[in-house]
Amino acid sequence: MSLAAATPAAGKIPYGAAVRSDALAADMSYRAAVIANCQLIVPEGGMKWPDLHPARGEYRFEKADALVDFARQNKIEFRGHTLAWYGAMPEWTAGIASRAEAERELVDHIETVVSRYRGAIPSWDVVNEPLADWPEDATSLRPSIWTRQLGADYLPIALRATAAADPDARLVLNEYDVEFEGPRFAARRKALLQLLRSLRDRDVPLHAVGLQAHLFADRAIDRDGLQALLAEIAALKLGVLITELDVIDYELPGEVSVRDALVAGVAARFLESVCDVVRPEAILTWGISDRYTWVPTYFKRPDGMPNRPLPLDADLKRKPLFDVIEQFTQKAA
Ligand code: XIL
Repeated sequence: MSLAAATPAAGKIPYGAAVRSDALAADMSYRAAVIANCQLIVPEGGMKWPDLHPARGEYRFEKADALVDFARQNKIEFRGHTLAWYGAMPEWTAGIASRAEAERELVDHIETVVSRYRGAIPSWDVVNEPLADWPEDATSLRPSIWTRQLGADYLPIALRATAAADPDARLVLNEYDVEFEGPRFAARRKALLQLLRSLRDRDVPLHAVGLQAHLFADRAIDRDGLQALLAEIAALKLGVLITELDVIDYELPGEVSVRDALVAGVAARFLESVCDVVRPEAILTWGISDRYTWVPTYFKRPDGMPNRPLPLDADLKRKPLFDVIEQFTQKAA
């Protein structure tokens, strides 16, 4: 056994970002920023169902292959996103009409995709956002084509199919809105934990929990609640990753230096709360530069100024948020 394999927790926490394949191909300064700063990448789109599986029985791998090649050529690790999600489902899946058909399509998708990238994608967001907005308990799942036909069984089906297609893959359940103060977020933490325990009780393969961490500058982090959740996750012997960090700034003052400092402060409080209790396996932001971010699609600023949720600004210059992340990734275990 090599010494390196025996000390997996030592050294820097890998930093990564979600990337857009069209921008990587067309925008060389963005591409260079990704190469210079990321130890891992995840496709922001590119590996969702409409990209990979646009019609029944038809798979398209050009974009995903190009992303995986880009990562390999630049010695960047890759995360897959995502296999079982309610969102971004191609139209044809609305025609899935029975339990047997749903299981067949879900398993076929996972087998086809995961086995194609076996060895190239060591970590998958197998299940994305399984919980209802305000869950009563772990049975309150977000409605989807999968829950409609398979109920809660879609979770073990997806996780087992991924493990079968790549026994070495790290299987991650990715969730959001679990870090804030307030009854809805407390209910989500409780339901998430119940869900993880029920998967564990049924021996369903699962290795880690992804905290998306789409933070809001106007929502307080519930440090105690978050830390209690993380301690329970660790007690279940599950790892933790931060998978989609950004800070949604639509209600912050416009002044850029003030705004950037507040954004960095929110992220610092979150990362501090997490890193006090667990050592995240990775910290990824949902994009690297304000030039390309999903935030204005849903959270445009009322004053019309561009959002600034990410570590590099639209000119690819480092912001205070970058320094905060670096401070945490540099920390030895
Ligand atoms: C978002 C992408 O960023 C957008 O470009 C796309 O239009 C919709 O999806 N949580 C997730 C991601 O897990 O897949 C979402 O990504 C953002 C919220």
